[in-house]
Amino acid sequence: MTSHPTHLHPVSLDRLRTAPAHAGEAPPDRLGRAMRDLRISVTDRCNFRCSYCMPRDQFGRDHAFLPREALLRFEEITQIARVFAGLGVRKIRLTGGEPLLRKNLPDLVAMLAEIPDVELTLTTNGALLARHARALREAGLRRVTVSLDALDDAVFRQMNDMDFPVADVLAGIDAAAAEGLGPVKVNAVIRRGLNDGQILPLVRHFRNSGHILRFIEYMDVGSTNGWRLDDVLPAQAILDHIHAVHPLQALEPGYGGEVAERWRYADGAGEIGVIASVTRAFCRDCTRMRLSPEGRLFTCLFASQGYDLREHLRAGDSPAQLAGRIAAIWAARSDRYSELRSEATPGTRRIEMSYIGG
Ligand code: GTP
Ligand code: 5AD
Ligand code: SF4
Ligand code: SF4
Repeated sequence: MTSHPTHLHPVSLDRLRTAPAHAGEAPPDRLGRAMRDLRISVTDRCNFRCSYCMPRDQFGRDHAFLPREALLRFEEITQIARVFAGLGVRKIRLTGGEPLLRKNLPDLVAMLAEIPDVELTLTTNGALLARHARALREAGLRRVTVSLDALDDAVFRQMNDMDFPVADVLAGIDAAAAEGLGPVKVNAVIRRGLNDGQILPLVRHFRNSGHILRFIEYMDVGSTNGWRLDDVLPAQAILDHIHAVHPLQALEPGYGGEVAERWRYADGAGEIGVIASVTRAFCRDCTRMRLSPEGRLFTCLFASQGYDLREHLRAGDSPAQLAGRIAAIWAARSDRYSELRSEATPGTRRIEMSYIGG
């Protein structure tokens, strides 16, 4: 197995990908990156209260979630998504909060699925997936990614802080696979001392399943989770831990800009991945734009300010005018937060993960 340095390292600008824009596409950003993915958060609500994302003391009964009328309507989301597709976006991912809490989500999926040359996917906590998998697939969804941070029921119930049983999420994963929404990717965020004991149980469970298990380094998203570098279990440590029991071999990236590093089990039991956003940041290939539930555009997961697109949409901007605005925002983009993390100022206010969807 190849070993990588696990210290933070700044990007060298000459290694940045330069991306010539094709006709009609958004120009590359200031670091030469093309715009290829749009992550659409459809709600800021969630039925879980994971302590690292929506800690209960800050997201309690009196928390002010966005009022329904503030949310982009499905027609508005679709209008915006079409403009993005025209500008070169090839993958759209629906996120939340928990996207399956958005009423009638399959209707939105059906509208987005009509956009040509775009892969449509969804990231969910899986709690409601068994119930919705068929309608989502029938509406045109292609794949799902399910977050699952523990296999042990007691640990899982504690982590979601809703006493929600792990069996229901596992049933959701099975239902999605049975509907053909695969390969299902399973994301496990590992926090040192909290669920690092779940790495091998998850590995054992998903080996030979056809699902792709991916371990994510715990990140300092938002301002509510009290993140400390000590809480991060580096991807290399995770890989070493697994490799000692189930030898791994490196795989080539599936596509340019993929956030996960891919590995296969040497005995042929399938594929796993790690997302090392803290120790091996991947900003140099970051092709992602993010749209918030009420229509703000964010050029980085760690951005503190968004650009209000809804205002222009509701004021009657034409698709060409919207395209011009979006292209200008992308062209001005120079974000590479994860690579600069070591220099970040403590106490900076950032958007919450539950709002922008990871
Ligand atoms: P697929 O490979 O198509 O499944 O997409 P994906 O890996 O981009 O999607 P997913 O939502 O599963 O992302 C996996 C995780 O990687 C997210 O939950 C985040 O924790 C992290 N991640 C995704 N995009 C970014 C990014 O732009 N910056 C950082 N720092 N982390 C990201
Ligand atoms: N660090 C890393 N991943 C996170 N996620 C949520 N918060 C964090 C964090 N602080 C993950 C979720 C889900 C995805 C959308 O983002 O577990 O898989
Ligand atoms: Fe947990 Fe995802 Fe909900 Fe955040 S959005 S509380 S990570 S299930
Ligand atoms: Fe992209 Fe920002 Fe994540 Fe870097 S930190 S990969 S620029 S979203």
